[in-house]
Amino acid sequence: MSTLLKPSQFPAIRMRRMRKDAFSRAMMRENVLTAADLIYPVFIQEGRNQRDKVTSMPGVERLSIDELLGVAEECVALGIPVLALFPVISSSLKTPDGIEATNPDGLVPRAVRELKRRYPELGIMTDAALDPYTSHGQDGVINAAGYVLNDETCELLVKQALTQAAAGVDIVAPSDMMDGRIGAIRNALEANQFIHTRIMAYSAKYASAFYGPFRDAVGSAANLGKSDKATYQIDPANSDEALREVGLDLAEGADMVMVKPGMPYLDIVRRVKDEFKVPTFAYQVSGEYAMLKAAAQNGWLDHDKVMMESMIAFKRAGADGVLTYFALDVARRLKLG
Ligand code: PBG
Repeated sequence: MSTLLKPSQFPAIRMRRMRKDAFSRAMMRENVLTAADLIYPVFIQEGRNQRDKVTSMPGVERLSIDELLGVAEECVALGIPVLALFPVISSSLKTPDGIEATNPDGLVPRAVRELKRRYPELGIMTDAALDPYTSHGQDGVINAAGYVLNDETCELLVKQALTQAAAGVDIVAPSDMMDGRIGAIRNALEANQFIHTRIMAYSAKYASAFYGPFRDAVGSAANLGKSDKATYQIDPANSDEALREVGLDLAEGADMVMVKPGMPYLDIVRRVKDEFKVPTFAYQVSGEYAMLKAAAQNGWLDHDKVMMESMIAFKRAGADGVLTYFALDVARRLKLG
């Protein structure tokens, strides 16, 4: 076909040349995703042979420890390096101070011991925060006005972290946003010879409405009621503040940092990675998962395509890994090639 363009009007550079074939697209692909980039968050509960669906998170279930073992086995087979545990605590064990969080025979320490006994090569991570254990659903202890008390909460978080470390957990992940908790936990771990216990700090954790389905899953939503977490989690309007939090957590002894939520906060992931150049993780939270699942179930989005696109977007933003409820699906898909 002839062209009306004169030679001087031909594009000097044709970006589409490299995009034309699969081989040249592969040659210039900047980011890759592997199963090693995934951390799989799971909800655990008491009982045997127990699997209960989380309505607002299609495909996600609360598992008893025996059922969890099957999931752990699949993670090992698929090359997912880490499982992150989130407990559903019976309401009879919830108290204003969340003291059950420090029980060495509680649900989380039992799950950690069982997992490490059966699958020693699988990394296990646990949250340090009191919200699954408190009768009011806040991450710490509160005063009469409902304000979360910082230093009193830190003392309990230290005990919780030591309980988890004693059970053999590999990574403690404080998700509470109290000031000084990373330093306090690191000190206590060192003083008790847990020198190998890694800390992944939820450093840039925002006061987000995207945590809604998670709060349903662990049963803290009803207890929390109308109150929010704005006095300790970061205002979604800010990003310099997130960098300051990351800097503090690193100075206090964090090995890895996290940004949460994920997709709406990729600008923060990029800023953190550029500024600190440390292992940086992003949490694709329950609400993000619910959005994608709901649209896919309606036939409005292609499930696997948006799932994989969201993963590579995290990598492109600079994340070293992603906590995602899609982890098993993503790893299975990667295996198919
Ligand atoms: C608890 C905690 C939350 C999440 C992880 N740890 C909820 C919250 O801060 O209210 C949210 C995870 C998700 O939404 O998937 N401190």
